[in-house]
Formats: sequence, structure tokens, C-alpha cells
Amino acid sequence: MSGYKVLHDSDTQDSFGHRDAFALDVLNGLSAQPKSLLSKYFYDTIGSRLFQRITELEEYYPTRSELEILQTNKTEIARYVDYGSFNLVELGAGFSEKTTTLLKHFIDMGLDFQYVPIDISESAMKSLVDTLERRIPALQVNGIISDYFTGMKWLNNRSGRKNLVMFLGSSIGNFSNAEVGKFLRSVWSCLKHDDLMLIGFDLKKGIDMLIRAYNDKEGVTRDFNLNLLNRINRELGGQFDLSTFRHFGTYNVFSGAMESYLISLQKQSVFIEKIGRAFEFEPWEPIHTEFSQKYLASDIDAMAKANGFEVFEHFFDSKYYFADSMWRVHKPTKPATKHIPDRKGVTLVH
Ligand code: AVI
Repeated sequence: MSGYKVLHDSDTQDSFGHRDAFALDVLNGLSAQPKSLLSKYFYDTIGSRLFQRITELEEYYPTRSELEILQTNKTEIARYVDYGSFNLVELGAGFSEKTTTLLKHFIDMGLDFQYVPIDISESAMKSLVDTLERRIPALQVNGIISDYFTGMKWLNNRSGRKNLVMFLGSSIGNFSNAEVGKFLRSVWSCLKHDDLMLIGFDLKKGIDMLIRAYNDKEGVTRDFNLNLLNRINRELGGQFDLSTFRHFGTYNVFSGAMESYLISLQKQSVFIEKIGRAFEFEPWEPIHTEFSQKYLASDIDAMAKANGFEVFEHFFDSKYYFADSMWRVHKPTKPATKHIPDRKGVTLVH
């Protein structure tokens, strides 16, 4: 029997809703110098559809590369968990061929597991659970609707099973450096010693290929980026004229990240009703909208170590474009307490 559970946070939900948070982030981002918007706001219904189309583009190699990794290494991945019952936790609830490959293989191998996707969106969870029930009836799905960390903590308080947490697609590359550390330490603190994490990383590669992947011929990535302004228009009563902004995707050789911008093509003032003020743009002024960090294997090793994980293995695709890295949560038990009796028989605890 499959389903999902909604974890409510009744104290915060009413007082400060999603729209207020969005408006406040837009106010902060467009008041800053240089201007920026947070990439997490790409993913409304239209943006998620556009991203799905990006993953199917000829130029966008990451999704295909990661699928190849999972298809080629599914048996090796299963070996990490084939000795007991476990939770296969996925951060995010999109239906993907990548996850389905693993789920079907684990079922075929007769592994004892439940699939636990965690996502904040009830509609995304509902459609995932419905789809999986139809496509893989033998699968036990128990989704959790909450933020990732609340969901993992809740699960761990109720389940003694080992966890394999998947964070695929190089979503980690969209975080800033400070956010990566905070995210990994939060995951670590929600998990038990010896739990596992399978995490996707887009690797450093030829710059021309990167530029093509984020500036596709059809202009889907352009529309994905411009949808941020569209979303501000729809949800916050913004008055952006999309034809006066252009998409610009470039590679920063110093930071090793693809960076996306929306550039104002003219001097203009844009009013946003819900915020109650206008924002001024100079001609050619950019709004930063996304980082997409690219990694070396040594960067991945250092990141794991700095945040309390041990790297078991990196799985690469045949062209070395992408890596899925298997990590173990390392939580050493307290160092043994030394009892040193003193001459009067009193125990001193050091
Ligand atoms: C979701 N994320 C890993 C994508 C990436 O490649 O950074 C988002 C994306 N942005 C433009 N194209 C795809």
C-alpha cells in the first residue's frame, strides 16, 4: 500500500506564505548591486516543464550522462544495500527515467526496501505516487511532503532502517559555496552513522560544450531563464516586458561555474505591484539568475571530507562528463572515557 504523508508546520504556514517569501526575495535581489534573483524560483509549473524539455535537448548532456551511469552501475549500487532492509530516500519528487532504472532493478533483485521521495510540493508528490503506482505496482512508495531536513529527521525517528539518500542531477551545483556546506551538514545531521548518500556532480569539461548546453539552439534555456520574470509578472503583479531582456549563459573560468544572467537591453523602470515599488535598470545591466558549478573528482573528495562523509566510490559515464558519488555518513562514537583511579580510590574522569 503506497501513499504520502503531509508534515504541517502550522505555526509558520499562516503567518508568512509562499508569495510573501517570494516577494521579499525579489525585493532583496533587485535592490542589491549587482542585481540577482534566486534560481529556486525557476521551478513553478511552467519552469518545471521547460526544465524537463531542457533535459531532452541534444546539447544538454547531464541527464543522459547520469542515466548511463545508473544503467551501467545499478548492480554495483545495489551491492551497497543488499544485506538488509533499507529506505531509498530521494530528495525531490520528479518522475525520472534515472530513478526508475534503479527502482526496477532493486525490485528485480528482490531487495527489501521502500522508496521515500521527499518534496515540499503536494501536487508533485501526488502525481509521482500516482505514476509509480501505475508503472511499478510492486514498488512500496511512502512519500513525505515537507522540506528535506524535516522529512529525513521524521523518517529516522520512526524507522531503524538504513538509508540510501539520493540527490541526483547535480542540483548541488546550483547552490552557492556557503549553501553547499550548510546543505551537506544538515543532511549529515539528519542521518545515522553508516547511512549512504548517492550524489550527482557535473564535471569540468570543454568550455564550448558547456556554453552550448546552456545556450541551446531552440532557445528553451532562454525561455526557462526569462520565465523568472514571467513568474514575477504572474504572481507578484510585475510589469516586466520580456522582449527588453536577453538571456546570457557564460562560463566563469575562476569559479568553474556556468552562470546565467538576464540583461536589460535598455534603460527602464519596472513596477512590481505586490512589492509596491519600481526597480531601475541601466542599459546592459545584468540580473544574475543561476550558478551551475562544475567539479573535479578531487573537489568532490574534499567536499565529502569537509562535511563528515567518506567517499566509497565515484561512478563515471563513459565520456567522463558526469559523476555519481557514493558516500557514507561517518559519525564516530564518543571517544572512550578513561577512568584513572587515584591513590585514595576516587575515580577521576578525564
Ligand atoms: C537543475 N540544474 C541541475 C540544472 C543545471 O544544469 O544547473 C538547471 C539548468 N539551468 C539551465 N539549464 C539547466
